[in-house]
Amino acid sequence: MNKQSKINKKAWSYRATEFWSNKLGKPSQAAKDMIERPHYYLRRHIQFFDEIRGKKIINPLGSCGQKAVPLAILGADVTVVDISEENKKYATDIAVAANVNLTYIVSDFLEFNIDNIHNPFDIAYLEGGVLHYFSDLHKFANKLYSLLKLDGKLILNDFHPFRKLLQERDIFKDANDNLELTGNYFESELIVGEVSYEKYLSHNTQDEFPKCLLRYWTMGEIITAFASAGFVIKQLVEGPRFDSYKNLPGDFTLIALKQELAEK
Ligand SMILES: C[S@@+](CC[C@H](N)C(=O)[O-])C[C@H]1O[C@@H](n2cnc3c(N)ncnc32)[C@H](O)[C@@H]1O
Repeated sequence: MNKQSKINKKAWSYRATEFWSNKLGKPSQAAKDMIERPHYYLRRHIQFFDEIRGKKIINPLGSCGQKAVPLAILGADVTVVDISEENKKYATDIAVAANVNLTYIVSDFLEFNIDNIHNPFDIAYLEGGVLHYFSDLHKFANKLYSLLKLDGKLILNDFHPFRKLLQERDIFKDANDNLELTGNYFESELIVGEVSYEKYLSHNTQDEFPKCLLRYWTMGEIITAFASAGFVIKQLVEGPRFDSYKNLPGDFTLIALKQELAEK
């Protein structure tokens, strides 16, 4: 595991189960809600899945299972790959309470091995804060390509690179926060950042929380990595921020297919 992943594993292994329990409730409560309204948890991206029932879906960096378990409830065969054992604990507890199967592999996404030939996935679904955990986007895109079957679909959602321009990169924050254009869109260094839930947990000293190491990408770098891995890009849908600055881009969703190309 490289240094960046080691640092991020430590950060995401710190009090994650506690955070998810605060946010989504005890696993039994979360499971009950997911059974009652699975579409609610998938509402931002469900339009990109043609079909869910019977599909083999990989959900890399799937965290606490808040997307994977609703997909399993809707009839998919779901595999999560995530670096945090703490996340696995919460996700598997919800899956058990919801009475669905969930395969959860704790590993650095770039390092896990699966029998690709016998286990190709129909869909790879990733969302909300994933690309900045990797400092080699080509390797990341190639890995996703290798996991999909021919004609398999990539649904990749992440925060919009426009946020690189802003001093404050959290797209959920609201007015009076730093929306000054003091960032550098072309910055390519690794940046020390907070694990996304740090602000939601009480703690005595600011630095008791382990930090993350993040690489923020430009839109050009992202599209180039997936196109050169061999994906055929079908759609790039940009959406507004999640706070009141609806005039600024907040996230994007890339829809791409693994198709046989004459030359790769
Ligand atoms: C912000 S979350 C992504 C959002 C998530 N899909 C959800 O449902 O909340 C980022 C996740 O990436 C995981 N992660 C970070 N680096 C990773 C790596 N190199 N390989 C696998 N998982 C990683 C973290 O443990 C964390 O669960």
